[in-house]
Amino acid sequence: MKWKIKRFEQVQSTNESAKSLPVGSVVIAGCQTGGRGRYGRVWTSPKGNLYLSAVVSELGAQTPLLAFVAGVAVIEALSDFPVYLKWPNDILLNGGKIAGILLEKTEDRSVVIGIGINVVSCPKENMMYPTASLDNKISLPDLEEKLLNALNTNVDLLAQGHFDLIRNKWIKKAVGLGKTIEVHLPKQTIRGLFKEFSPQGELILETPDKIVHKITAGDVFLI
Ligand code: BTN
Repeated sequence: MKWKIKRFEQVQSTNESAKSLPVGSVVIAGCQTGGRGRYGRVWTSPKGNLYLSAVVSELGAQTPLLAFVAGVAVIEALSDFPVYLKWPNDILLNGGKIAGILLEKTEDRSVVIGIGINVVSCPKENMMYPTASLDNKISLPDLEEKLLNALNTNVDLLAQGHFDLIRNKWIKKAVGLGKTIEVHLPKQTIRGLFKEFSPQGELILETPDKIVHKITAGDVFLI
């Protein structure tokens, strides 16, 4: 797909600007006044970092898997850095979160993939996880190009039914897999062994009493 890019100096949220645009559109902004994260959290969005939203076709039951596609695309765009993935799609550098992904469905059966990457700065206070930035070691145009190419390739892979290939790439870069982790769910926190990243994208967690949980959404903490 050839992306059709719209650039703005400032928007409220690139996801918000993208949601009324057709499939293949990309919104890139210099900064955001109302950047949003998962679970209605704020995504602090000063100038210098990357704020990008791409509109893609929804893929029926496979649509949530686009979150892993986006995570893998960010990893590939940042192949010069020692970056890793924390389930479901946080990107870590030196243990700190440098990028976040927010998928939002639109009213006309498409999906906005919103990606924020801390290129020059990262919020430091009141964050639930440690944060990090790329310390300006990559230029924004270079990063944008690599990211859009990687997104294109990996969205196509999923659309052609190859989540197995995305999953293999994801597993190679996963942190916490095979280790004890803590998962914060809306009503409880579970600690256990991260046994598997399932073929459906779930986090398979086994607690010490051998109960197996299939988790589809939550916040993972490495312990
Ligand atoms: C998260 O980790 O909570 C997800 C953060 C997603 C942030 C990006 S920045 C570009 C796009 N526009 C937004 O308002 N949010 C996403």
